[in-house]
Amino acid sequence: MDQEVDKAQILVASNRGPVSFSIGDDGTIDFRRGGGGLVSGLSSVAAETDTLWVCAALSDADRKAASAAPEGRLDRAGYDLGGASVRMLDIPEQTFTNAYNSVANSTLWFVHHMLYDTPNKPHFDAAFRAEWEDYRTYNAAFAEALLTGADDGAKVAVQDYHLALVPRMMRGRRPDLRIAHFSHTPWAPPEYFRMLPGDVGRQLLEGMLGADHIGFLSPRWADAFLRCCATFLRADVNWDNRTIDYGGRVVEVGVHGLGADAEGLRERAAAEDVAQWRSRLRETVGERKLVLRVDRSELSKNIVRGMAAFGELLRDRPEWRGAVTHLAFAYPSRGDVAEYRAYTEAVRRTAQEINDEFGTDDWTPVILEVKDDYARSLASYQIADVLLVNPIRDGMNLVAKEGPVLSENGVALVLSTEAGAADDLGSDALLVNPYDVTETAQALHDALNMQDAERQERNARLVEAAVALPPQRWFGDQLRALD
Ligand code: G6P
Repeated sequence: MDQEVDKAQILVASNRGPVSFSIGDDGTIDFRRGGGGLVSGLSSVAAETDTLWVCAALSDADRKAASAAPEGRLDRAGYDLGGASVRMLDIPEQTFTNAYNSVANSTLWFVHHMLYDTPNKPHFDAAFRAEWEDYRTYNAAFAEALLTGADDGAKVAVQDYHLALVPRMMRGRRPDLRIAHFSHTPWAPPEYFRMLPGDVGRQLLEGMLGADHIGFLSPRWADAFLRCCATFLRADVNWDNRTIDYGGRVVEVGVHGLGADAEGLRERAAAEDVAQWRSRLRETVGERKLVLRVDRSELSKNIVRGMAAFGELLRDRPEWRGAVTHLAFAYPSRGDVAEYRAYTEAVRRTAQEINDEFGTDDWTPVILEVKDDYARSLASYQIADVLLVNPIRDGMNLVAKEGPVLSENGVALVLSTEAGAADDLGSDALLVNPYDVTETAQALHDALNMQDAERQERNARLVEAAVALPPQRWFGDQLRALD
């Protein structure tokens, strides 16, 4: 952590917290620390600064652990949370479901990633209005917990689309606080954002503008946000400095890119379970080339078109039949949302169709695993020849950055132009239009044919770019922006 950051208390708010609980067969509560940029970012300051992380309880086990913790603080219940103090909010189930599944994940996520199949969805009826009220209630619960937990002059870092209303809900009541909002997603262009009904769009923009600083992962998303503020609020936007003059306050919009946590990754990848997975995967793939993808099973990740591109490669370039395996790890995600379940089924069907068309007794073209296993993902990064990252839209995409860091022999990266990561990696990746299956098939072919020397040189430059913005720095930048 750089020295110039002052020692004010730091509060973080996010839907998903840094820790999760589960109840074992014998009824005991087990806890697991999560990963990700925010966890490493906050851990780096937690040792020297007073911190409080407010998040939602996401399971019965979370609720049980949270309710048993003294003053609702999990660290005070003796869990090792790396020095951070964590408070999990027990939001009533219906409120949470409406806020998280319906508004955040089925609406805001869809708008920012442009995922709607518009002849059918969105469909903003009376039910949506009620869900929106629950989203407000859920945001208010976070605002209240932060207001209660914040010392004078504290810095508050509110994360993501789940909590867009929180900054404004806090602003009027505590002018002493310094508030940042950070979006991990893309931001919708005005043409898409305007689909939101009634004054929902206005409430979201005004909610975020309650912050002093609003951060995005890519200049593209920051500029889209500015465009929405200019279009829907008629706010006075300074495009050069990225500031917004609105309601008598000037709010700064910043770009804070996020890179791979190289040290953390390498340390984790050195563990025995990763080594075991590495040999098992090597055995499965054998001498064949390996095209890898690692994602949540998520509509925005564009897994079906990625597989279709692999199918087209096999169809048009018979030389690859039997010579390459596509490993697709698609971790279960947001299973309460019907579109996600249907999408995962479509992913399974597509894999099956390709295997039916091309598979032989001793070769399965697509090996799809819909199961979370971090050690297996790290092992697969080590041995992949080609890494396919083709999202429709993505705030950043850390797979594109982590893969090259762990690659042993250099990996050729096929990357969507619509991922924030393309800003940093674009010159050494093979860029593709995520909707263009034929172009993606061609890129896979080029990537598979890339000479060793070129692939390794590109990989070295990818790594350099990927580690340039470690999570500690990314988080520190958000805080420094509040100084
Ligand atoms: C994205 C979002 C995060 C979210 C994560 C996992 O990266 O930006 O806020 O936590 O997806 O999604 P989930 O719904 O499982 O928390």
